[in-house]
Amino acid sequence: MLHDRVRALLLCGLLGTLVGCTGADPERSPGEPAPGAAGIGDDYYPNAGNGGYDATGYDVSISYDPANGRLDGDTTVTARATQDLSRFNLDLRGLTVDSVEVDGGRAEFAREGDSELVVTPPEPVPEGSTFRTRVRYGGTPVDASAGQLGDNGWQRTPSGGAFALGEPHSAAYWYPVNEHPLDKAPFRLTTRVPEEWTAVSIGRQENTSTADGWTTTTWAEPNPVASYLTTVVIDRFTVERGELADGTPVLSAYAPGAAHLRDEGERVGEVIDFLSGEFGEYPQAVAGGIYLGADVGFSLETQGRPTYTRSADLETVVHELAHQWWGNAVSVRSWADICLNECLASYSQWLWAEGKQGDDLDARYHRAVDRFTGSQEFWSRKLYDMGPGHEFEGVYSKGILAVHALRRQIGEEAFDRVLREFPARHQDGNASWPQFEDFAARVAGQDLGGFFEAWFRGTEQPADEYLYPGSLSG
Ligand code: TRP
Ligand code: ZN
Repeated sequence: MLHDRVRALLLCGLLGTLVGCTGADPERSPGEPAPGAAGIGDDYYPNAGNGGYDATGYDVSISYDPANGRLDGDTTVTARATQDLSRFNLDLRGLTVDSVEVDGGRAEFAREGDSELVVTPPEPVPEGSTFRTRVRYGGTPVDASAGQLGDNGWQRTPSGGAFALGEPHSAAYWYPVNEHPLDKAPFRLTTRVPEEWTAVSIGRQENTSTADGWTTTTWAEPNPVASYLTTVVIDRFTVERGELADGTPVLSAYAPGAAHLRDEGERVGEVIDFLSGEFGEYPQAVAGGIYLGADVGFSLETQGRPTYTRSADLETVVHELAHQWWGNAVSVRSWADICLNECLASYSQWLWAEGKQGDDLDARYHRAVDRFTGSQEFWSRKLYDMGPGHEFEGVYSKGILAVHALRRQIGEEAFDRVLREFPARHQDGNASWPQFEDFAARVAGQDLGGFFEAWFRGTEQPADEYLYPGSLSG
């Protein structure tokens, strides 16, 4: 799902007078079908996502054999055209496409660059209509690429299994997708693996059956999900099931080599209770976790059921579950907004320390500021619009201090309201960091322009008036 107004704003911001904002595209007459854009309009990743349609549902089906590493896929993407489409793109990396059908008719297709699948339907798709694109494909998924942002994509596990994980990009390594958080949609997955293996994904586990040595399982995530928050993990799992107090199903899957994470896994209900007290009702349909036996460099807040690296700890669990509000219920509009996810999820670790251990957060804050005073490196990291490849550099450290300073700047009552109301008001949708700033200023009834400039856009230690607001000045 994608809000047209959001896209219009993004496109107009990016392309200015070129397209659709101030007038008609001179290249085409009105009503004439045209190709959908190859990217959704994110400055950082111009080819990420696509234009011309809004995905409304994914029905992904994969068969995977760890013995030979081969994946066979059959995926149907349901979407609504937002313009008259002569052709459109999906994102898909590697894998060989065998056929594409649009509404049951054979479509032409071509691959462009390393992420574009260009589909030409037999008839143009009229604006406003819902259409279904079925892609049959297969091969050995491309190995996750070690970029500036770690290994993102498809990887093997130490026990010979496999998984898809990565932010901003991982979904296109295993299914055709409009790969950008602006286009969230419900997600269904059918997995088929040899019976000695178990596949685990996000969403509710529905049916599972074994025949001829293969186990087939279906997974259904009813809430709109950003594609980087989907995953599939195939391993020799030990699976535990339970329920939260309100009946939300919990599924925790421990890979060989992740047995030491059981204590953390068993505290998911307690953590969700705590966070619900801070951020409002738990916004996801399921809970639990997927615990990997490998060190993969990061854990990821896959929707409802985060995926954890071997070295995760209880703080990681708090962080990934906080993302279920910050990042998952409300998702970024563009990757420049990543602080909306990470600064808030990281601050939840402080809230936990305060609420559960009675830590004095002002004292923590002063210790951190004293330690980093004079560190050019620490303060130079921007928290908003930090540039592609730099998304995660400041948000976990400077980001926590910035949120604590904001809390002291606007006071407890306004801060609580912001934490509860912002994710709820944007649930299942998107928001930008500047929208968060505007909301905080409105709730607080303060002009926070200077404060936000100094902390989130600045590259130097904020001036004392912003560094020591409220009780921090004592
Ligand atoms: N969003 C993830 C988390 O905070 C972390 C993450 C994903 C990450 N990719 C990354 C961190 C790359 C650093 C670099 O839980
Ligand atoms: Zn995070």
